[in-house]
Amino acid sequence: MKAERSVLPSRFSGLSIKLIATIIGVILLVEIVVYLPTLAAFRANWLDDRLRVGVVAARVLDAVPDVMALPRELTDRLLTSAGANAIVYRRQGQSQLIELASPIRPDLVVTADMRQADLMTLISGALDTLFADPDRTLRIVGEGDLDDSLVELLMSERPLRQDMLAYSRQIGIVSLSIAAITAVALYFMASYLFIYPVRRLTQNMLAFRQEPENASRIIVPSFRRDEIGTVERELAAMESDLFSMLRQRRHLADLGLAVAKINHDLRNTLTSAQLLSDQVATLDDPKVQRLAPRLVTTLDKAIGFAQSVLDYGRETAAPPVMAPTVIATLVADAAFEARLAGHPDIGFTNATPQELVLNVDAGQLGRVLLNLLKNAREALEAAGSAIAAPEVSVTATQDGDTVTIAVADNGPGLAPRARANLFVAFEGSARAGGTGLGLAIAREITEAHGGRLVLADQPQGTRFELIFPASLLVRP
Ligand SMILES: Nc1ncnc2c1ncn2[C@@H]1O[C@H](COP(=O)(O)OP(=O)(O)OP(=O)(O)O)[C@@H](O)[C@H]1O
Ligand SMILES: [Mg+2]
Repeated sequence: MKAERSVLPSRFSGLSIKLIATIIGVILLVEIVVYLPTLAAFRANWLDDRLRVGVVAARVLDAVPDVMALPRELTDRLLTSAGANAIVYRRQGQSQLIELASPIRPDLVVTADMRQADLMTLISGALDTLFADPDRTLRIVGEGDLDDSLVELLMSERPLRQDMLAYSRQIGIVSLSIAAITAVALYFMASYLFIYPVRRLTQNMLAFRQEPENASRIIVPSFRRDEIGTVERELAAMESDLFSMLRQRRHLADLGLAVAKINHDLRNTLTSAQLLSDQVATLDDPKVQRLAPRLVTTLDKAIGFAQSVLDYGRETAAPPVMAPTVIATLVADAAFEARLAGHPDIGFTNATPQELVLNVDAGQLGRVLLNLLKNAREALEAAGSAIAAPEVSVTATQDGDTVTIAVADNGPGLAPRARANLFVAFEGSARAGGTGLGLAIAREITEAHGGRLVLADQPQGTRFELIFPASLLVRP
């Protein structure tokens, strides 16, 4: 069964778009994390600049004995140069104040104390400025340049907020540009290094899978020395292996087909010859009487061989059709067919419990049992009187997660030649007239059922075990 064919993902659902999105996301995240402290520092500098002008103004206030005596024009100039509505100067318990004519709304005053300069206070102050009422009055408090002097500036918060917004816009534009430039640069680099070669590999795999017998679809590795180069070389090797294997398989299949045809005709010809030989056997001539049986058995053997080769080609290809099957009945039928049941010399015991029911293909498993039982009978018959009480038995045991059906005899055991090629089709036979297919077919069928066919150790005779998974058990 073939898996569903895949298609190459488009440029926008594949790796590239994921890569770009990730890069831009990460850069923007980093920018946001960096943005807050930068903005806080910007605000602190801005306030510091104003305070510095305030300090200079305060120096002037400090120098004159009576502020009230200063001309209005001068104090207004001092205040506008600091951008402030009022400046308070405190020193040694005394304070001086100059202010513009415009009134201050004291209910909306917010204090920025420049003596507290830790990062968290600065960041929360900056956020406060950005998001609070824009009409607030700001009170900037800082140290003057003389010992324990204090300067306070009162001013509208609006210009600070506007400068901070402008600054944020700038940062935003710069961040987006950096993200875009980095993303494009990384995209091209990653495209060249990974995405393009991976797309080439993917395309090749898809194309090769469609036509694995077309040698021009085998990938031509580039000269890269990195992991992708290795992948390309390995893929090329795998594809050319697959290509040769498929070609070989096709040749073998063609040959098999030809053999099957020849074999089929041969069997028909032999069957006609058998009919003739049957008639020859009825002739009275004593010479003919002596030779005819030999001719008949030879033809029988040849036909049997042709038939089993045909069966091998035809039958083992079909997958098993599982159905609940009573094993004891299956064994009894197979024993009958193998001419073991009621055999004059060989004792047969069917010890499989009647209640053992497995989900198997009865036809195929019957064939397995028949092959094993026939082998046992043939071995015991060939041994003749060498075995005192020839006996064949079938038992079934169940333990944990397996069910084992064993076919055992007390015959001569396996010949070394048979042992060497056991389960190999056409190779395993060690008896005259054997095809060497029985065990190969038996193993193939057992494995198609998810089980195993093994030769078990036994001091005398031969014992084959069919080991099936307990999942095949049908419980009443
Ligand atoms: N119970 C057994 N006792 C002794 N030898 C066995 C036994 N079962 C199998 N063998 C040996 O294993 C060989 C292979 O068995 P297998 O059934 O595969 O082929 P075959 O019996 O020779 O031919 P086929 O079954 O195709 O007609 C046999 O020729 C025989 O020598
Ligand atoms: Mg056999």
